[in-house]
Order: sequence, then structure tokens, then C-alpha cells
Amino acid sequence: MTAHAPHDQSVTDRSLLSTKAYGTGQHLAARQSLYQWQTPRHDLPGVVVDELTGIRGVVADVGCGNGKFVARVREERPDLTVLPMDVSRGILGTIPGAVVTDVQQLPIADRALGAVLALHMLYHVEDQAQAVRELGRVLEPGGIAIVSTNSRTDKGELEHLWRQAAGDVLGIPEGPTRVQLSARFTLEDAPAILGAVFADIRTIPLPGVIEVTEAEPVIAHLASYEAWADKMGVPFQETIVRARERVDEAIRAEGAFRVTCLGGMLVCQGPDGAE
Ligand SMILES: C[S@@+](CC[C@H](N)C(=O)[O-])C[C@H]1O[C@@H](n2cnc3c(N)ncnc32)[C@H](O)[C@@H]1O
Repeated sequence: MTAHAPHDQSVTDRSLLSTKAYGTGQHLAARQSLYQWQTPRHDLPGVVVDELTGIRGVVADVGCGNGKFVARVREERPDLTVLPMDVSRGILGTIPGAVVTDVQQLPIADRALGAVLALHMLYHVEDQAQAVRELGRVLEPGGIAIVSTNSRTDKGELEHLWRQAAGDVLGIPEGPTRVQLSARFTLEDAPAILGAVFADIRTIPLPGVIEVTEAEPVIAHLASYEAWADKMGVPFQETIVRARERVDEAIRAEGAFRVTCLGGMLVCQGPDGAE
């Protein structure tokens, strides 16, 4: 496993996650909505539905957030029973049947599920090895875990923008890196972490380029890190204001602001015999 970044504790701080970060769906929605400007567009819930072909019974979506995937699976696979689960009560809103729980200790019997989803959430978990054991424990033979995260190169232009804007605010060439949520569980590191339990892991890379001609979607994405504002080493709002000016300048000069993305899904075949 890679060495953890200095921001680790705040990225896994459960009280911060369930209040400022994911107490509502507002910040997650801002991050999700940036992808509408991506080419090619990836239908992530559609990828999950495709991977669930042949799966029967009960599927848990652990760390389901605002329920985007739950809704789609329920719509397209009414034969499945979907269990929405998240550690943050607030973000679950009115999702029917939602349960507040932690992936590190799932209230699910051994071998009870046909599939388990852990989408863009394992980087928030303190003991990832324990979480992965839980994902394996609850799967029936032949069951699958579908996990997603981002590459360590994902949205590099946003990191660069942040450091430049922070540098402007601080009066230095380049400011500190911001909190990087997926750094604790990158697409590159995920197979080794999941491989402790799962025998067969297939990565589905989902690359793309986001191109905006107005600053707002990019700024909304940066602002969605507000929960970690006091961990950035730079005044947060001032940096956001300066970042907006920089994006506006880039759009005036080049017609657009571009962000290179690399996310991915990992489809893990059951832990049969691996434990
Ligand atoms: C980035 S959001 C992803 C939401 C959704 N899976 C998606 O892909 O749209 C991460 C979610 O994981 C939840 N979460 C964080 N740590 C968790 C844990 N230990 N157990 C269960 N859920 C957790 C957060 O509350 C948040 O809703």
C-alpha cells in the first residue's frame, strides 16, 4: 500500500464526513455535475447495471451518497432488492429503505448478497483492509463487488489551478496542494488493496476531457471541498475567487478551460477460497 498523504485524517474523519462534507447532497452534486461537460460522457450507473447482468437477489450500495446509482439499479433491475447504505444520515434524504452504517462493519450476514457496490467511497475509509474484508464477507459464491475511484492523474489541471491561485493569494509562486480525496485509494493502487480478498479484478478505465466555456462548473467543483477549507493552508474563499479569475482569463485567451479526467471501475469476482 502507498504511503498516506498528510491530509489523511480529515479525509476519513467520520464526524466531518457526516456533517460538513456529506451532511447534504450539495457538495457531491457539484462534483457529479462537472461531468456533464466531459467528452466522452460515461454513463456510470449504466456501467454498473451492465455489470450486474446475471446477478440475482440482494445488492447493497455502500456509501451510496445521494442515491444516484440506487435509483438507476432499482429502475432497470426491479427483480433485485437494493440496500442503500451510508455513514452520513443527511445525504440519504428520503431514499427508500436506506440504512445508516459503516462499510467497516456491515450489518449483513455472511454470503447474503449477489453484489455489493462501493463507489467513490473507499478513500474515505480509515481501515480499508477491514472494509475490503467486509465487502468479501457479505458476497455469496459467484457474487461481485463493483468499486470505483479516480486515477492519481485525474483532474491534474484542477490541482494546478488550485496551487497557482493559492500561490497568488499567498504571494508565492505555487501554493500548497489541496486535500485530495481519492489519493488514499487511487485507480492504480486499488487492485493491490482489493486483491487481499478478491481473486479476480478487472479494471474498466473511464477517461475523458472536461471542457467548459464558463468558469462556474469548475469553481463549483473547487468550492465543494469547503468541508476541508481549514486544512488547505491558504484562505479558502480568497483562493476560490482567484481561481475564478484565472479560469476566466484562460477562457478569454483559449476559448475554453480543459480538465483531463481518468476515473475507473473495478469489478471484483467473489472471494471464494480467498479468506
Ligand atoms: C464521494 S461520495 C460517493 C457517493 C456515491 N457512491 C457515488 O458514487 O455517487 C462518498 C460517500 O461515502 C460515504 N462514506 C464515507 N465513509 C463511509 C463509511 N466508512 N461507510 C459508509 N459510507 C461512507 C459518504 O458519507 C459519502 O456519501
